[in-house]
Amino acid sequence: MRPHEPPLIKGWLPYLGMGLKFWKDPLTFLKTLQRQYGDTFTVLIGGKYITFVLDPFQYQYVMKNPKQLSFEKFSRRFSAKAFSVKKLLTDDDLNDDLHKGYLLLQGKPLDDLLETMIQEVKEIFESQLLKTTDWNTERIFAFCSSVVFEITFTTIYGKILAGNKKQIINELRNDFLNFDDIFPYLISDIPIQLLRNAESRQKKIIKCLTSEKLAQMQGWSEIVQNRQDMLTKYYRPEDLEIGAHNLGFLWASQANTIPAMFWAMYYILRHPEAMEALRDEIDSFLQSTGQKKGPGISIHFTREQLDSLVCLESAILEVLRLCSYSTVFREVQEDMDFSSESGSYSLRKGDFVTIFPAMIHNDPEVFEAPEMNLGLIAS
Ligand code: HEM
Repeated sequence: MRPHEPPLIKGWLPYLGMGLKFWKDPLTFLKTLQRQYGDTFTVLIGGKYITFVLDPFQYQYVMKNPKQLSFEKFSRRFSAKAFSVKKLLTDDDLNDDLHKGYLLLQGKPLDDLLETMIQEVKEIFESQLLKTTDWNTERIFAFCSSVVFEITFTTIYGKILAGNKKQIINELRNDFLNFDDIFPYLISDIPIQLLRNAESRQKKIIKCLTSEKLAQMQGWSEIVQNRQDMLTKYYRPEDLEIGAHNLGFLWASQANTIPAMFWAMYYILRHPEAMEALRDEIDSFLQSTGQKKGPGISIHFTREQLDSLVCLESAILEVLRLCSYSTVFREVQEDMDFSSESGSYSLRKGDFVTIFPAMIHNDPEVFEAPEMNLGLIAS
């Protein structure tokens, strides 16, 4: 170790380090290390040295320092490995063009996405649920993943025109969930060839999202249209790497959304008082806008109206607080001293710095009673 470096926890497994313990239960693992080593320590996980910054007062120094702590370099290498987008390793213009496209997830294009999504909810829900004449039993995850996957996919990529579209979407969803299962290993430094089935799972989805396959879908969102046009500047239309870009975008749109919906439903079902408050809020919204519930009637709302449903928003924020393990990763560009008001330590080029917000979301000093409390939204 060099002077002033954070404590290093390597474990006894070469290369994997503490990976297995971290992936099994990150929160318990990090809490144990925090008690032993304080708010900043470095852990070897799957070949990467990762410095965890757990003090929330230091978050801004990690987030607002893109020259020294870069997301871009990491995300370009990560896209090459996890999605097989190789050109991003060398092409800065492609990276800039992709990022310009993300503006189409805001403002008016976001209103349009919401509008399409409302239509898709109606179509997919009505065909799956409202027309059934008998009770069906389904596990909550299977239900949520099937509904969220299909609605999100068709909102972004449009409707599949083939006659067996249900079969295509179900197969794509299963392939996606299998791929997502191995994701923690994909972002490690373990070569993809050593991860069982990872490459074949990745290739299978890429082949479903090539330009040729996208041409068989109708009603692309503006962002997909823009990306497809832009990608033809960099690739031949038949290039498989276009499918790889679409795998990356599909993953970004689904990987956090499916678990968020699952946990929201799970906790709302366990808190009848929260369910009642949500029903009341939606009923009074429908009444005030002259709409009715029931099969065959389409319910409509704008983004402002959606934003005004405060109980719904509180329920989702509460679920994200305790169930989302979204992580911020930054890569150290040069050997540096990381200084903040509460401390200073040395970091090495090539190592990673990570913010793991789930830690403060569970901290009783920040949230007095950190366990899930959907009951509060009813009060
Ligand atoms: C509950 C839902 C979601 C959560 C919790 C979430 C969380 C995140 C996080 C933590 C990042 C990394 C940000 C950083 O390190 O600075 C990210 C990036 C991104 N997300 Fe999401 N996300 C969600 C839904 C979506 C959806 C629905 C889409 C697309 C339709 C999307 C598209 C993206 C894209 C394209 C990026 C990469 C941005 C970049 O490279 O600069 N996300 N998301």
